[in-house]
Amino acid sequence: MQWIPPINPKRYHLEELLAARSVSLDWLNSGDVDPYNPANVARYSITEAAKIVPVHYRASMVDSPEILTWLRELVDAAREDQAERCSPVASVTLGRSMLLLGPTGTGKTHQAYGAIRELAVTGVAARWVVTTSADMYAALRPRHGIDSEAEFLRYRDARILLVDDLGAERKPTEFTEEVNFRLINWRYEHQLPTLITSNLVRKEIAERLGDRVTSRLIEMCEPVVFKGPDRRRGEAA
Ligand SMILES: Nc1ncnc2c1ncn2[C@@H]1O[C@H](COP(=O)(O)OP(=O)(O)OP(=O)(O)O)[C@@H](O)[C@H]1O
Ligand SMILES: [Mg+2]
Repeated sequence: MQWIPPINPKRYHLEELLAARSVSLDWLNSGDVDPYNPANVARYSITEAAKIVPVHYRASMVDSPEILTWLRELVDAAREDQAERCSPVASVTLGRSMLLLGPTGTGKTHQAYGAIRELAVTGVAARWVVTTSADMYAALRPRHGIDSEAEFLRYRDARILLVDDLGAERKPTEFTEEVNFRLINWRYEHQLPTLITSNLVRKEIAERLGDRVTSRLIEMCEPVVFKGPDRRRGEAA
């Protein structure tokens, strides 16, 4: 982890987030050149988050209490693990997963990218891998010059993973079923925190993802259901 000089909160759309979480700018920009100082970890995480959060969601914040609780648990677990292992940096390790459900435009992706930004300002390191399920399948399709298995391991072993739009494909194929099962089963068995969003309603989940994936998701994830109008259309509630 490299040392990051003091950052301008405006540049990273942080003013509201820092105020909401009572994180002072003095703290964020504090510390000497020790890269393991939590304030530097936060600055580093903020710059890394800015690379993976799409422009559209660059100012996103979490307002779901369930997701905020989940993030607090991850932070607490990371700090406990750091104390136990006398490690220089608190990093997200094991934890529960979340399944954000709801129709289009209800704010699932907004919350998911908000979670990345929220975690960044805590000073706990989180190495996110971020994908939509469609992009993941595309990246994993066997083709010349690509080691699909190595690519798969990047998702499977991510310390914390966002899979946006799981189950969005019209028709599951043997290929997507196998990827889903291998991915979810591994992350279930190893208790690797995973943030999943999906447009599926509960009763469609088993139909689309199969019983074995669904059973694991039910045990490993807390579901959060988003309701309301499509915010993109600005429809009245
Ligand atoms: N809490 C929020 N505050 C401000 N804007 C929001 C909030 N939640 C969502 N939005 C905005 O509403 C729009 C729809 O949100 P988002 O993209 O998260 O929906 P979604 O549930 O992921 O939809 P889809 O299922 O189609 O992917 C976006 O423009 C997003 O930035
Ligand atoms: Mg979305």
